[in-house]
Order: sequence, then structure tokens, then C-alpha cells
Amino acid sequence: MNEELKIPNHVGIIMDGNGRWATKRGLMRTAGHKAGADNLKKLCIHIADKGVKYLSVFAFSTENFKREKAEVDFLMNLFFSVINKEFDFFMDNKIRVVFSGRREPLSDKVLKTMDKIMENTKDFDGLTFNICLNYGSVYEIVDTTKKICEMYKAGEIELDDIDPEFIQHNLYQDLPPLDFVIRTSGELRLSNFMLYQASYAEYYFPEVLFPDFNEDEFDKALLVYNHRDRRFGGIHENKNN
Ligand code: IPE
Ligand code: IPE
Ligand code: MG
Repeated sequence: MNEELKIPNHVGIIMDGNGRWATKRGLMRTAGHKAGADNLKKLCIHIADKGVKYLSVFAFSTENFKREKAEVDFLMNLFFSVINKEFDFFMDNKIRVVFSGRREPLSDKVLKTMDKIMENTKDFDGLTFNICLNYGSVYEIVDTTKKICEMYKAGEIELDDIDPEFIQHNLYQDLPPLDFVIRTSGELRLSNFMLYQASYAEYYFPEVLFPDFNEDEFDKALLVYNHRDRRFGGIHENKNN
């Protein structure tokens, strides 16, 4: 059954709806973030088992700093404790963990745990798990442009070296293009998630809130992906369409 399915190489998930999940249950929004983090761990294993090679998740956007300090602080502590607590989980499952985003203004405490997990998992060749934390795609493009200008100024590259692949190699992480982007909770926007990488992705917007987006929901999403006809500017695969 699995063999017959086309498996996207790189999946992106905009994990939205944690707050609403909690509010609906009369809980604090932070309880939704905790439930979302628990769900992500299960989902990560399931997605790796399906044969996906790259998983990018949107954990915290540069814009999320606009939220109340208490919620931001809770999320930062959650990232810190989850990465620490799940250190063995990543090691045992040979998951290569990388982060995308700006380091400023993350605390030293959070940055140190991020660096530690990245360093310890860097040689794994199972799933690459890209956590977008303090991430915004528009600033990623700005930062990449500055980096490339510096290389040019230093005489390390010629103008003609700059092509789409070169830009990809110089984004926060050098990852292949996204094949499939899922945003939970029914919102129909990218909210500054991986614009360059998602230029030819397929999109799926289930109504389900992220803490409820379980393994079965992911399998449903895979079926949706399998019914898409990806043409990349070419012609229909199914000539009857
Ligand atoms: C997504 O859930 C998690 C983060 C943005 C950190 P939200 O917190 O945005 O949940 P809703 O959209 O308010 O329900
Ligand atoms: C996008 O969700 C960011 C993450 C899921 C981390 P938001 O809830 O912040 O996005 P908007 O505000 O609805 O666009
Ligand atoms: Mg939201």
C-alpha cells in the first residue's frame, strides 16, 4: 500500500490552531501549545516512517513576538524543555535536527540547546527535521541577499554564480524545494512561511486544529497529495483531463 503512494520528499507544516484548541476546551492558550508539542513528536515519527526525507515545521514566526509576553515566554520555555527532554528521542531515531530563523533576540539558554542538538545530530541521514523558530521568509530572503553581496564584495563569487540553486544553498538551511505544505486550522495563508522553497509546492488546508492533526489526518493529507497532478509548467499527466 505504502509503495503505491507517492511520498513527498519535503513536507512543510504550518502548525496553526493551538490557541483555539485550548480555548474551545476552556483551557489557557498555553495548554494548546503543550498539546501541539506532544502531537508533533508522534507525527514526526509517523512522517519519517512514511518515507518523507525532509520535514519543516513552523514553530514560531518573527511576527509572533507581537503576542503577550506571557505567551511568548511560555513558548520559549517550551522549546527549551522539549528540545532537552527529547534529546534521546532525536538521537535514537537518527533524526537530523536543524533550525531556520534569526538568532536575535532568542535567549542564550534557548540558543545553546538548539546548537547542542544540531551539533549532535548533524551526521544523521534519516529524517531532516527543520524547525522554523523566530523565522520569517521575507527576512530570510533579505539575510540571504546580504550574505551573497558580502561574498561578491570579498571576490569569492562572480555575478553569474548566482542562480536559483545558489540562492537555495544560501538560505538559512540548504534544503530541497517543498513538495507539500499543510496548514492546519482552516486559515488560507502562508503567514511568511518558506516562500522561496514553496514556489511549486502543493497546498492543503485542513480545518482540523494542530493538536488534533494526528497520524490518520496525515495519511488523509497524503491521499490528497496523491490526487494532485503536478505539472511544473508542463502538460497534464492524465491526457483525459
Ligand atoms: C500556532 O497556534 C502556534 C504558534 C503560532 C506559536 P496559534 O497560537 O496561532 O493558535 P491560534 O491560531 O490562535 O488558534
Ligand atoms: C503562523 O501562525 C505561525 C506559526 C504557526 C508558528 P499565526 O497564527 O502566527 O499566523 P496568523 O497570525 O494567523 O497569520
Ligand atoms: Mg494562529
